[in-house]
Amino acid sequence: MHSADRLQKIPPYLFMELRQKIGKAKAAGMDVISLAIGDPVEPTPEPIIHELARAAHDPANHQYPTDEEKGMLGFREAVARWYARRYQVTVDPQKEILGLIGSKEGCHHFALARINPGDTVLMTDPGYPAYRASILIAGGEPVNVPIRPEQGYLPVLRDIPSDVAKRATAMFLNYPNNPTGATATTAFLKQLVEFARSHDIAICYDNPYIEVVFDGEKPLSFLSVPGAKDVGIELNSLSKPFNMTGWRLGMALGNPDLIAAISKVKENTDSGVFNAIQYAGIAAFTHCETSIDHMLQIYARRRDLVVATLRQVGIEYTPVKGTFYLWVPTPKSMSSLAFADLLLEKAQVVVAPGRGYGEFGEGFFRISLTVADARLEVAMERIRQALGS
Ligand SMILES: Cc1ncc(COP(=O)(O)O)c(C=O)c1O
Repeated sequence: MHSADRLQKIPPYLFMELRQKIGKAKAAGMDVISLAIGDPVEPTPEPIIHELARAAHDPANHQYPTDEEKGMLGFREAVARWYARRYQVTVDPQKEILGLIGSKEGCHHFALARINPGDTVLMTDPGYPAYRASILIAGGEPVNVPIRPEQGYLPVLRDIPSDVAKRATAMFLNYPNNPTGATATTAFLKQLVEFARSHDIAICYDNPYIEVVFDGEKPLSFLSVPGAKDVGIELNSLSKPFNMTGWRLGMALGNPDLIAAISKVKENTDSGVFNAIQYAGIAAFTHCETSIDHMLQIYARRRDLVVATLRQVGIEYTPVKGTFYLWVPTPKSMSSLAFADLLLEKAQVVVAPGRGYGEFGEGFFRISLTVADARLEVAMERIRQALGS
């Protein structure tokens, strides 16, 4: 059976390949520790689970979700309060917020809502692989914008050739950044708004790591910059701040026309998120703010352990301020794939090779801190054994 042509253009999803490698190693009897995937292992905070259970027992919630294409008003209002309180951003829950099945779904539906076949669409390189897939499925042509350590992994907007900027209809980016961990600045966001306005480029500012920042860095919303709502949307999610990756709950906020367009796509695609999960989301925003600090302490501790281990094996790395990923140069100029293979073979530890995130990801590997402390300690001990001289 043939699948649609558009699927042929999508490169194999990096994590699928990784999963296959891990599967093979496990089948060969190895005790593999994966530091490759960003999926928190700590449980979802209890008040959220409690609220899900309560709402699941209410038969009113067993029907199609309320306000299917937008998400429950109560959820959208909770999002608006959260944005006002934590990011000093005012958003109208009626017109400027949409419930999502996670921010990944938002990326995909933003693409379908904005991109016409043949459109040029900008994305960072290295970048989150799902952007490319969403652009290609919508029929667009992805154009990579390099992000380099010398510029703090922020795109240099003035270096984008003017004919490309003129042609582009949308741009995907995310800070705190997966995979590099870099954070953005207000000055950069202002430039981004100006760039988008002058070229009529719709910004999809994917911000699921907004809360995962360290060393005194403050969460920064794209929408906190004047004019952002004129040019784009922000995607956000409960996956990372509340350890809810499996629950599939997120939100899009910002430009009302884009929100309406995405809502139209969703209206014809899915029927929204189970009401009980949306109630649980309201509980997260209302009762679980302090669990974020707890989560950050855990990641900071793990980050210190990994940085110390890398130093012990001769890899000097100073972490940047965001996400639970460490984006580390490979030692001795090894290719990222060769280094990942070496670690798997010698330490039975899996890291994500930077090449999987784009051409400019070559020469780096990504370690995720979302693994239990005890396992991380074992992984670090194995890396010391394997790479120590
Ligand atoms: C940059 C980025 N966007 C979106 C997602 C997906 O998040 P969600 O669980 O909200 O769909 C991830 C998950 O790793 C991510 O790294």
